[in-house]
Amino acid sequence: MARYAQLILPSANRVYADAAIGLGAAELAAFSDAVLGGALSAAVATEIGGVPYLEFAAEALGPLETSFLANVSSMYALFELVGGLLRPLDLHRLDRYDDDLITIQKYQGKTNEQFTKLLLNVTLLASAFASEMLDRKLAVLDPLCGRGTTLNQALMYGYDAAGIDVDHKDFDAYSVFIKTWLKRKRIKHKAEYDGPVRREGKVAGRRLLLRIAPSKDELKAGRTQLLDVVCADTTRAAEFFKPEAFDVVVTDAPYGVQHGSRTAARGLARRPQDLLTAAAPVWASLLRPGGALGIAWNTFVAPREQAAAILTNAGLEPVETEPYLQFKHRVDQAILRDVLVARKPAAD
Ligand SMILES: C[S@@+](CC[C@H](N)C(=O)[O-])C[C@H]1O[C@@H](n2cnc3c(N)ncnc32)[C@H](O)[C@@H]1O
Repeated sequence: MARYAQLILPSANRVYADAAIGLGAAELAAFSDAVLGGALSAAVATEIGGVPYLEFAAEALGPLETSFLANVSSMYALFELVGGLLRPLDLHRLDRYDDDLITIQKYQGKTNEQFTKLLLNVTLLASAFASEMLDRKLAVLDPLCGRGTTLNQALMYGYDAAGIDVDHKDFDAYSVFIKTWLKRKRIKHKAEYDGPVRREGKVAGRRLLLRIAPSKDELKAGRTQLLDVVCADTTRAAEFFKPEAFDVVVTDAPYGVQHGSRTAARGLARRPQDLLTAAAPVWASLLRPGGALGIAWNTFVAPREQAAAILTNAGLEPVETEPYLQFKHRVDQAILRDVLVARKPAAD
């Protein structure tokens, strides 16, 4: 057995405070169980040269294992421990664009980008498509997408990204951001749709549909990514997206604190659990069989059992086994955030 030490991204301690080590260990375990055949021992906190690391044991890690582990959200560097020395492993992340795609936007209500990556990873790892994470262009939906943190992470991985949010300001800000960013980076893209969407003569929402390719060659070869963003109430998502179109649905629900959840129809704050009850069946219908839904929410507004019951009623199967019970962490005084992942049963 070889021993390995993961250097945690320095920002993890700022984002999660005391929970960084526990969350990192749980995410490593999710990778180990889903795509590494359980090869990693449980990671534990350790200190090397006065710096905190996560340490675990495994049979020698090969290129496939490190290709997966490179994408762990808190991964800064990975070393093999050899005779008291650190031997660095080559890590090749999926990332196909500059990381300012994810970091440049700063606004109140943004979901931390590192946490967003964790949520996308652990949702994907719980799905039937975990082993395809590195090779297939998966389709990701964030049905409460705000200004697109999940969408940007999905694009970064080379996936298709779709989102819906009722807030016009968020929709406008994200549209301007992504179009400007793509132009500035000289990334090939084409707007296939950009404007209001009408249903039965009435404007039902607004939509930005971009086809993106990281290079001319990829564009020519048809290896493009779709970014599809809609401004509308999430309970109407099935009017905009095809049934079973997404491999994973990943979202950070309103926290019921500073900015409440809204419905376009009422323009009023809705309790997050009411929004979840109304939206969960719609989201479930958009998932492919074998897909998974991952949601982050504030346990002060709804206990885990309640959120799990809502997803169960929508026909999904909450993952209530380790390490999926280890993602709860404090964000601030008013928010104790947890992650709930639920699978859509695979077709027979
Ligand atoms: C926690 S924020 C998500 C932030 C996002 N992950 C980001 O980083 O920009 C929750 C989002 O839910 C949206 N929302 C609340 N109720 C909604 C509804 N009924 N339909 C669609 N979006 C809604 C809000 O506008 C807000 O952008």
